[in-house]
Amino acid sequence: MEYDRCGFVDAVESLAKTAGVEVPREERRPEQDRQIRLREQCFSLLEEAGDFYRKQLREHPRRDQAVKYLQQRGLSGQIAQAYGLGFAPPGWDNLLVKLGHNEQRIALLAETGLLVERSEENRRYDRFRHRIMFPIRDLRGRTIGFGGRVLGDDKPKYLNSPETPVFHKGRELYGLYEARKYGKNIESLIVVEGYMDVIALAQYGMFNAVATLGTACGEAHLELAFKQVSEVIFCFDGDRAGRDAARRALLNALPTMKDGRQIRFLFLADGQDPDSLVRQIGRERFEQQLQHALPLEDFLFDVAADGINLNSMDGRARFSKQAAPLIHKLPEGVFRSLMMDNLAKRTGLSLEQLQQFTDVPDALIPAEPAPRDNVRDAPSTPPPKAAPTPGPADDYGDIPELYAENDAEPPAYLHDEIPVDAGAAAQITEQPYLAPPIRSRTALSPARQALILLLEFPALLQQCEPTLNIETAPEHDDDLRQLLTLVTYLRKRPNAEFYNIMGFWAGVHGPESCQKLCQNNASQLFSSLKNLAGYDALKDLNACFKELNRQAERRRNREELQSLTAKGLANLDSQERQRYLQLIQQS
Ligand code: UTP
Ligand code: MN
Repeated sequence: MEYDRCGFVDAVESLAKTAGVEVPREERRPEQDRQIRLREQCFSLLEEAGDFYRKQLREHPRRDQAVKYLQQRGLSGQIAQAYGLGFAPPGWDNLLVKLGHNEQRIALLAETGLLVERSEENRRYDRFRHRIMFPIRDLRGRTIGFGGRVLGDDKPKYLNSPETPVFHKGRELYGLYEARKYGKNIESLIVVEGYMDVIALAQYGMFNAVATLGTACGEAHLELAFKQVSEVIFCFDGDRAGRDAARRALLNALPTMKDGRQIRFLFLADGQDPDSLVRQIGRERFEQQLQHALPLEDFLFDVAADGINLNSMDGRARFSKQAAPLIHKLPEGVFRSLMMDNLAKRTGLSLEQLQQFTDVPDALIPAEPAPRDNVRDAPSTPPPKAAPTPGPADDYGDIPELYAENDAEPPAYLHDEIPVDAGAAAQITEQPYLAPPIRSRTALSPARQALILLLEFPALLQQCEPTLNIETAPEHDDDLRQLLTLVTYLRKRPNAEFYNIMGFWAGVHGPESCQKLCQNNASQLFSSLKNLAGYDALKDLNACFKELNRQAERRRNREELQSLTAKGLANLDSQERQRYLQLIQQS
């Protein structure tokens, strides 16, 4: 069990197979026998189907389009081979004709989900047509189902095998078999959202990525992952759906957090997914981001504190009601006790008081299906009523006839190099030097300038003299509001770096807000400045804070003056009158 990291029955079966003996079973009822035989037949038929799809990718007259698509996505031949990718050619019955020699096999094809059956119309046809095929394999490497992606922008983008005797979406992680096979001594698993993300990361040498199959990551998924490793890092797309998925994952993850296990969350910028990001910044910087992923405990408190002012009594009470039920979902153990103590310390409530809050408030449960779930299992158009022959052009919309009819060239595709998106990488790392220090170049408000400085040099906050001495920002002052949020966050997390800030911002305030923040373009602006001899960021930041404090004081004074005036000068007592004169002088 330890060696293969699998359950007892699987371990025994695997040993028995190696030794060439049959596992004796007590009281095997005929029904059980039938089930076992059915599963075995399914496995072998699915393997045949996988071989068929792979062969089509090498030999089908129309394979060029598939190959071109994969190349355009930046996939190397080796990686396509490692993950067993294939091609389901256009047409309604390629697989049916090839593998459905007799009624029994046809029935089995339907059982494995490879055929769609319309019993009312007495018709059946291939489920996967004109798609790139991703075999989904179990821990032992047996193909248990498929995902299929369109080659263009048609909907549904991905089609997955339905639940079958051998395939249960809620319990499988795509890429886990490959992770164990190719990854050496994997210590953590990265849970990403898509097939392509898994493969792209593998191509860059990170074989420890796995994906759920178009479903939320549930407890069973995590238990499976924790059988292999003690750390799981979720990597979510930076869109709304990704953020909801993160909260859902948090809720599902809590009961699995036995002592010794670790979960962290990484939020990507809006519009990014791991596939696009790793191609842009490469493995090293991607791994840096992973290292900065938010620990579950921090994400939990951030989620619970979302939109709550923790400086008020009332806010702290609300915070307790949100956080305590989440902590309750953790299994009993050291971790849970620590979290409860932590919460008690943060809120000033006693452990007994906190014990009362046990129901997770609705506000913390993310809305049901994310938008892309809607298209997930959308029915595909059934074939025309005519005999199931490869469909005429209009069955597929207007897919152009791109490929030469008889292409005898060997699949050169299977031997090419890993492409690196050098252009995009250069764009990020080698910004040309732009300009002298921003203050003199543009008319940035000091708040905005301080924001930019802190995004790039978060550690400066601790050295700053004066410290920023402002509690609230005027309604309309977006720059100052953002700055105050950032300063509050950095005071709580003095060691935070840019990635942490991005993660916090996207996770808590949403991707739109994060985008707004990034419009400050801190990173780009400063990658050049940092290397500029003599540029003193601390001096600039000090000046900003000084100016901001001065402005804030003027604002406070003005307000005080207004309220004194409103009282009516005649009604002021002597102390107020003195203050009034003082203010007048200063303004
Ligand atoms: P995404 O829409 O994020 O796609 O779906 P992706 O993985 O980035 O795909 P590419 O890069 O456009 O090829 C994430 C996952 O959700 C499931 C799939 O498992 C997919 O990998 N999904 C998505 C479906 O099952 N059906 C769909 O129609 C779309
Ligand atoms: Mn993608």
